[in-house]
Amino acid sequence: MLEIQQGLPADYREQGAELFFTVLREKFEPILGDTLRVRALWAKSVKPKSCLTAWNGKDLVGILALQTKLQSFVCPKWQDLQQTYGLAGGFLRSLGLAILEHKPGEGELYIEGIAVAASARNQGVGTKMIKDAFTMAKAQGFCTLTLEVVNTNQAAERLYKRLGFTPQANRKVWPMNHIIGWKFTESLFMAREV
Ligand SMILES: CC(C)(COP(=O)(O)OP(=O)(O)OC[C@H]1O[C@@H](n2cnc3c(N)ncnc32)[C@H](O)[C@@H]1OP(=O)(O)O)[C@@H](O)C(=O)NCCC(=O)NCCS
Repeated sequence: MLEIQQGLPADYREQGAELFFTVLREKFEPILGDTLRVRALWAKSVKPKSCLTAWNGKDLVGILALQTKLQSFVCPKWQDLQQTYGLAGGFLRSLGLAILEHKPGEGELYIEGIAVAASARNQGVGTKMIKDAFTMAKAQGFCTLTLEVVNTNQAAERLYKRLGFTPQANRKVWPMNHIIGWKFTESLFMAREV
């Protein structure tokens, strides 16, 4: 039985961070790499309250990361980046992460990312998390629910359109995609009025 809950419980912090990083590796691995130190940095950088989580019994099967003007789910501190990669390496990674960053405006609830475990896909988990994010946005007085999808992810774009999100703007990442090693060349910013 699928249940959606607000936040990531403290004892699931590492598992949740791992799920998010692994599922969204297309975006993050080219910037951060993938070593035990990187996974530890990632786990340290998540804000457990800024997400919805999907559960099948005690199994964590999905995370929908949320960002407002004030807080985001993944937010590595500059000093942690520096400790992991050194001064120059930390600076370059922070530039790479900044390219992916969106700064939500007043009244905007931004979906930073959605990750569903491979074994739980195509069963309505993503749909339910997005619908719950919409309900939450409404209850908390937000005006728009927004997200971004890269142009290599047609399945996700189809899902968002079906759930009422409409395209607003294209953001090109060229030539940074060549420098960083991303397969995508642009991302589509989408919004749904609440
Ligand atoms: C994109 C993603 C979040 C979607 O999550 P999901 O839980 O598989 O989504 P849903 O199950 O709600 O919908 C996916 C498909 O399953 C179908 N579906 C939903 N419930 C279903 C059910 N009970 N039985 C059969 N099919 C179902 C949907 O109609 C949809 O079909 P489509 O591919 O034709 O659009 C997931 O695939 C994922 O984590 N992908 C990797 C990370 C990613 O790309 N994240 C998004 C970018 S930030």
